[in-house]
This record gives sequence, structure tokens and C-alpha cells, in this order.
Amino acid sequence: MHLIARRLREQGFYAEIVPYNMLKREQLEDPSVKAIILSGGPPSVYAPGAPRIPGWILEIGKPVLGICYGFHLLAEMLGGRVDRGCREYGRTMVRVLDPSDPLFEGWEAEEQTWMSHGDCVREVPPGARLLAVSENGYVAAFRKQHGDTVVYGVQFHPEVSHTPKGRQLLSNFARLAGAEPWWRPENLIDSLVSELRERVKEGRVLVAVSGGVDSTVTAVLLQRAVGDRLLAVLVDHGFFREGEVEETVRILKSAGIEPLVIDAREEFFEAVRGVSDPEEKRKRIGEMFARIFQRIVKENPDIRYLAQGTLYPDVIESGAAPGADRIKSHHNVGGLPSWLGLEVIEPLREFYKDEVRRLALALGLPHELAFRHPFPGPGLAVRIIGEVTREKLEIVRKASRIVEDELRRAGLYERVWQAFAVVGDDRWVGVKGDRREEGHIVIVRIVESDDGMTADWTRVPYEVLDRISRRITAEVPGVTMVAYAVTTKPPATIEPQ
Ligand code: XMP
Repeated sequence: MHLIARRLREQGFYAEIVPYNMLKREQLEDPSVKAIILSGGPPSVYAPGAPRIPGWILEIGKPVLGICYGFHLLAEMLGGRVDRGCREYGRTMVRVLDPSDPLFEGWEAEEQTWMSHGDCVREVPPGARLLAVSENGYVAAFRKQHGDTVVYGVQFHPEVSHTPKGRQLLSNFARLAGAEPWWRPENLIDSLVSELRERVKEGRVLVAVSGGVDSTVTAVLLQRAVGDRLLAVLVDHGFFREGEVEETVRILKSAGIEPLVIDAREEFFEAVRGVSDPEEKRKRIGEMFARIFQRIVKENPDIRYLAQGTLYPDVIESGAAPGADRIKSHHNVGGLPSWLGLEVIEPLREFYKDEVRRLALALGLPHELAFRHPFPGPGLAVRIIGEVTREKLEIVRKASRIVEDELRRAGLYERVWQAFAVVGDDRWVGVKGDRREEGHIVIVRIVESDDGMTADWTRVPYEVLDRISRRITAEVPGVTMVAYAVTTKPPATIEPQ
């Protein structure tokens, strides 16, 4: 669903996500809402507890598009037949039967799409027009005029890149619904700044900066709004990559922010000493952050606000998915503890990551910062399997730098989601010169992803892998083997811990 909203916003059409059980008629009847899209979802409309939508959605005269599960749901609500066990998965060709329909403007008679479904629409609803069929003979799209409401459904996923004309289809739908492509995050900078100024009338604002694009943009917006009433703090936990702290300070200074750097390297190292359990490691690091921030707030009683770089997906996710399994405790997603007693300000809560990158550029921040890879809050500590030792920390720090440098050199850095090195305790016998040496194994992980929720390993050219491997074994003491991680997420997560 985030991808659907992003694909629309990328094309200038503003989209918001509303959980199916929080739909309000007055809200959707507002003239600013032009159309409604029902996303994919659970495997089957017949599954126990499968989400339903209220019937009035089809009565308010705004175009409705159902995708995958949303398509099954609409077909069923309108009297069509949905069957189980007619699965299609992956790249699937679709034949467009009615190329004059505005939804398919710009599509050829046959196009590639991406399918991922177990049920299918066996019969379109009475009075509906069949618009497309899949290569397996299943209904791929229909349209039905239902009173004043035009209802569309598509079986494939237009939001994913494996449906090359999918973006166009979403834009066609927005246009036929009368939506205007007015959304430009850059144009909102002035109003974001004045809203912040309005909100922070007195007292100071604390912002924890990490060198990432989200916290930096948050800090720069606040700096513009409240000037030196902003206190930007960079906690150096010692688990940053080589040169990262200096680089972050330089960028902040060039944006007019003088960050307070707290050197807590020893404290953090002590906190995780002897800990090899990943969750315990994260917990201790989270507690250490909390303790440091508590100290800052105590020493600066005029701090009233805490600014955080929370993004739109976090806002939606934190309200949704009850009972979802906790895979990893991302300490900074939940935010700093409420007992700090500060009012939380989240200027980026309406934006997606790619929009924040655009804001960064519009604010004059360097391109390298805007397109920096995500980096976990607990830093390299979660890229060290087992206990964090100084030797292993030095290894990941240096090896990560090599991985990033080589990708940049090959022009691949910005094409991948993340690229880093991992080290554990396993050893590999090596020969250096004619001496036997037992050294560490460094695992290189380079992945592509849209949102970090799923990921594929990157097919990096062999020559690049070769250079990475040679440089790591030559330049990083104590390493005798470099391995490349070739497992997708799922089943593996991106970070090792
Ligand atoms: P996993 O490893 O769960 O990670 O597949 C998904 C994405 O989240 C990032 N990540 C974190 N980000 N604090 C963060 O801000 C964390 O503690 C954290 N742990 C993982 C990870 O780098 C990947 O992009």
C-alpha cells in the first residue's frame, strides 16, 4: 500500500493511506478527495476475518480502483464470482481487450504485469465490462458503472516495477478521477518552517542527529524556524563508520548548525561488553541513548521539545498491524522515552523517504547526504555477530568503507539500498606471504529494496566484488576471507542482527 501511495506521489498526485477499519464517510466525501484505491491484502476474501469495506464507498460517486485483494473484494461486493485456487505468481502477460478505456491509455495490446494471488475473479459482476485477461485466461481487469460511481479492478500490481506500465495506469486512474498533480514536497518548505515557528513559541528544541538524511533535514527545518533555540546533539557511540562523525559535523555546520558532539564511545563500549545476544545488545544501546538524553535534558531545563525524523510509513505502521511479530527492536522507531517529559515534534511525518531526499536537496544539503544509505541506530554494533570487540569493530569499520568506496567508484552506490560489511567470530585459515594466518571472515551484503521490507541481493559485477575482496584482505588486518551474502529478505533480514 505504501508503494501505491508513493507511485502516485512521485507523479504529483497526493495520496494518503487510511486503514480499512478507520474509513469515515465525511472524510471521503470531502471535495479534496478525488478517488479511492483499495490495496492488496490478505490471501483470500474467504479467509476468516478478511477485511471488508462499508458499502457506502460505492455510493459517493468517486472513482474506485481495487488492486488484487481490493479487486476480489469489489468483484464480490458487486455480484461477481471469486474462486479459490487459481493462483498466478510473478511476471505474467496481460492482454488488453479495450485499449480505448482511459485506464489503459498508453498500454500496448499485450503488456507485462506482476501477479501475486491465490484467488481469482472467475466471473465479472453483472453489467461490468471485461477490460483485460491474463495469459492464463483469468480476469485481469474490469470496469463497472455502479450508479454514479465508476468502479475499476485490476488483478495485477501496478505499483511494482515489474509491471512496467503500472505507474502510467495509476496516473491514468488519478487523471480520469479529476485529480491534479499538484504535490511537490519542495514547495512545502516555507509552510513547514512557519508551522514549526508557530508551534515552538518558547523554550528550546532538542534534536538528535545521526548523520542520516531524516534527522539532518529535521534539524535544518528547525534551525530555519527557531535559529539558535535548536540544540542539535550528535551522540558518538563509537559504532559509526570511518570518518562519519567528522563528515556529519561538517555538513551540519555548512547548514548553519553547530552540533554538540557527545563522545560516549567508552560508555557504549562498556555497555555492550561481553554481550553477544542481538536483542540484548540493542536494548543496552537503547538504554544508553535514553540515559544520555536524560542527562542533557536535566542540564538544560529550557528544553521543551524533542524533534524526531519520523517518516510517514512509521506513522502508519505504528497505528497498524496489531499483533505483528517483532522481528527486531528498532529502538529509534519507537522514539525516545516519554519520561523525558518533552513534547514531540515530527516535521517529516507526512513524507516518504524519497520525498525527504528531495527536501534535503531543496534545502541545499549535499547530494551525498540526500542519497545516503539507511544506517541502523545502533550502528556497526549490529553488524558485528557475537560480542563487540575492538578488533571486530575496527574490521567492520574499515571493510564497510571499502565496500562503499568501491560501489561509488563503480557508479553503483545510489542504485542499491544498502551496502556494508559484517564480521563474526568464525575463522578461516589463510596464507599471507608464506605464513599461515587464521583470520576473520568478512561478509559483504549489498541489497536492493524499495522500502527495506523486502530485499534482493545485488548482482554486482564480478570485477567489483573482486576489488572489494582484494582490498579488504589486503588493507584490513586480521581478515583472511571475504564472502558475499546471496540471500534475499525474507527469509534473511537485511542486517545480520
Ligand atoms: P532488517 O535488518 O530488519 O532492516 O531487514 C530493515 C531496514 O531497517 C534498518 N534498520 C534499522 N534502522 N534503527 C534504524 O533506524 C535500527 O535499529 C535498525 N535496524 C535495522 C536496516 O538498516 C534496513 O534498512
